[in-house]
Amino acid sequence: MQNGIINIPTAYEAIVSATNDLSFNMASDIYTGSLLKTLVASKPGGRILELGTGSGLATSWIVSGLDKDAVLITVENNAMLLSVAQKNLNDARIDFVLEDGYKWLKEYRGEKFDLIFADAMPGKYDLFEEAFFLLKTGGLYIIDDMLPQPNWPAGHAERVASFINFLEGRKDVILTKLNWSTGIIIAVKVSTGT
Ligand SMILES: C[S@@+](CC[C@H](N)C(=O)[O-])C[C@H]1O[C@@H](n2cnc3c(N)ncnc32)[C@H](O)[C@@H]1O
Repeated sequence: MQNGIINIPTAYEAIVSATNDLSFNMASDIYTGSLLKTLVASKPGGRILELGTGSGLATSWIVSGLDKDAVLITVENNAMLLSVAQKNLNDARIDFVLEDGYKWLKEYRGEKFDLIFADAMPGKYDLFEEAFFLLKTGGLYIIDDMLPQPNWPAGHAERVASFINFLEGRKDVILTKLNWSTGIIIAVKVSTGT
């Protein structure tokens, strides 16, 4: 148990250590991870997409929520970070994609997803429509870092506020903003009936 969080994935500590060695400071925290695992587990046989693998900390939680028939595609453009994730998470259900997320989102033609964890600019602040198109109706779109963080650059707070406003104004979204972790939004894609 760590900070009240149980069932930490086996690979987690090794990834934390490698992540610290790389001085990578954008990793998702344990609370986001635990929530992701819980939500992924609600999608048996589900298709999960993660945009921004980083070194695989959130990925380790996502994988531990997959059932035997569920699959994960995770996209990252930094080869060094992705190799940490790949080395520590050897699992046939994961498709690690080393590619620019902007390119991937524009070119992906496969099946839609049941849950998307959008943790890079493409799919969140950029190309949101392309990412959201890839979510099934009833699917979950999850983002973190929505509460003020010490590492936010100048102007980011305004960008976050505007994005939340945009999401809240959509008719095809039902969402809840959680004061959990770094500030999570869980948005469900709903039919507009048109
Ligand atoms: C907030 S971090 C993700 C952290 C990750 N969820 C974790 O648990 O460690 C954002 C990641 O997106 C990646 N990234 C940034 N721009 C990208 C792009 N255009 N395409 C793909 N990945 C990108 C960064 O290299 C970084 O690893």
